[in-house]
Amino acid sequence: MSVAAILLAAGRGERMRAGQNKVFLPLLGHPLLSYSLRIFALLDDVTEVICVAHYGEKQRIEDCIIHSGLEKKVKIVYGGETRQASVKAGLNALDSRHEFVLIHDGARPLLTVLLVNQLLNRVKEVGAVIPAVPVKDTIKRVVSAEVCQTLKRRELWAVQTPQVFRYELIKKAHQSDVLATDDAALVEAFHPVHIIEGDYSNIKITTSEDLWMAEVLLERGRGQDDAHWTRL
Ligand code: CTP
Ligand code: MG
Repeated sequence: MSVAAILLAAGRGERMRAGQNKVFLPLLGHPLLSYSLRIFALLDDVTEVICVAHYGEKQRIEDCIIHSGLEKKVKIVYGGETRQASVKAGLNALDSRHEFVLIHDGARPLLTVLLVNQLLNRVKEVGAVIPAVPVKDTIKRVVSAEVCQTLKRRELWAVQTPQVFRYELIKKAHQSDVLATDDAALVEAFHPVHIIEGDYSNIKITTSEDLWMAEVLLERGRGQDDAHWTRL
């Protein structure tokens, strides 16, 4: 199985208010982005990694790559104004002979080898697969501070990355000009997208509370499985 991973790091991390791109913030002493790179280093099926970055941050990305011990083929390309444009830049840069493309937010450092392997097993059968967890809160639609609808919680899932697709499917999806907040939304328009149960620990680091949460999860051994830093 040959998989190309697109690792997104070209955001600004504005909601974090850290004065720098959040993917470089330290998490128990290691830059956040290094955790995802470390997982890709451990996965034999991932044969190429495309890291999507800002023009001025190439050196910092290279430092993370060295720090994570990733020796396989890594290409750094420059992202766009939106996440979708950054994914497109990654897709354009990868070797089209790959069967599958895995797309991951650099802002989710707690992915595991186990989760990726489950996704890779499933994508061979269905072509498009994403991790998701049942939402815990009741979700309501609100317009102008007034509730207009209470959604059925049992039908609602919070979606994560990595998201994995057959190469042709994700390539076709990104030919569309429709704007979407994840890649699955573009594929859904013409091909079924399946979910597997994700991991509540696979949080996206968006605000400072998420960083503290991630440190606690890591200290308690979540999100690390066989990817432990001590193996470096
Ligand atoms: N991303 C990207 N290119 C963009 C926007 C986002 O590569 N133009 C990446 C981010 O680096 C992040 C992931 O997409 O790893 C998820 O986006 P998000 O959590 O929204 O990160 P930021 O856009 O950096 O944060 P914010 O929205 O708070 O500015
Ligand atoms: Mg954003």
